[in-house]
Amino acid sequence: MSIILEGKNIKKNFNNKNVLNNISFSINKGELTSIIGPSGCGKTTLLRILIGLEKADEGSIILEGNDITNTHPSKRKMGIVFQNYSLFENMNVLENVSYPLRNATKITKEESNAKALDLLKMVGLEDSKTKYPAELSGGQRQRVAIVRTLALNPEIILFDEPMSALDANIRLSLQKEIKDLQKRIKTTMIYITHDVEEAFLLSDKIMILNEGVIQQLDSPVNIYNNPANEFVKNFVNGHINNKIQSLKESVLNV
Ligand SMILES: Nc1ncnc2c1ncn2[C@@H]1O[C@H](COP(=O)(O)OP(=O)(O)OP(=O)(O)O)[C@@H](O)[C@H]1O
Ligand SMILES: [Mg+2]
Repeated sequence: MSIILEGKNIKKNFNNKNVLNNISFSINKGELTSIIGPSGCGKTTLLRILIGLEKADEGSIILEGNDITNTHPSKRKMGIVFQNYSLFENMNVLENVSYPLRNATKITKEESNAKALDLLKMVGLEDSKTKYPAELSGGQRQRVAIVRTLALNPEIILFDEPMSALDANIRLSLQKEIKDLQKRIKTTMIYITHDVEEAFLLSDKIMILNEGVIQQLDSPVNIYNNPANEFVKNFVNGHINNKIQSLKESVLNV
């Protein structure tokens, strides 16, 4: 397994508050790595630094052996999918995927439309190609957003809580699709979620952050069996116990 992305001693302060404290990690090529941790622990800040929307105060980012710490976001070969879809509302589904592709690569409209249609087929949206975003469900909109990012052939796709606006059933089917897609295309993915269960379901590796420090970066099974410290143990078990408790209350009435 080769390393695709490294963070080295990344530090970030906001208003004299230490948000990321000496973060160092490696991400393996072709794996899906989730980032979990309490609200405000620095997940989004780390993602924004990796893609170049935010500058770290110290430290470096290495992509496939090249230092990209000061590289423009558009040259980092990374794509990002946000929580709020951010589709072009005035373009139909096909154009939402085809237009950015054409813009980035200067291929013809026919070529970009053909590639966009192939990708839409992968997520079952070919019949919706002439619909506008307003006519789609939340899950469909997020599929378009994912496919639009995929079209640009990024080395890494970053997700910042892509499911949090969706209801439970849609989340479940989209989670499965993302996992299948990831297995099929083998693009490296970094996936922020506040849902511990989702992280365990989807991930090859999970990074657990707390107060700007990586507590553990390991496979789900190792994290569960060998939590690195009390925080990890309580964070993971707390979520699992809450889940069992709410299941008991809502389904079993106990
Ligand atoms: N642009 C900014 N200016 C000032 N403070 C910021 C800025 N962006 C983030 N912060 C602060 O940095 C800390 C980490 O924020 P971040 O958004 O990275 O957390 P998070 O882990 O993504 O949280 P959540 O789970 O709620 O999305 C928070 O205390 C936040 O208020
Ligand atoms: Mg966040």
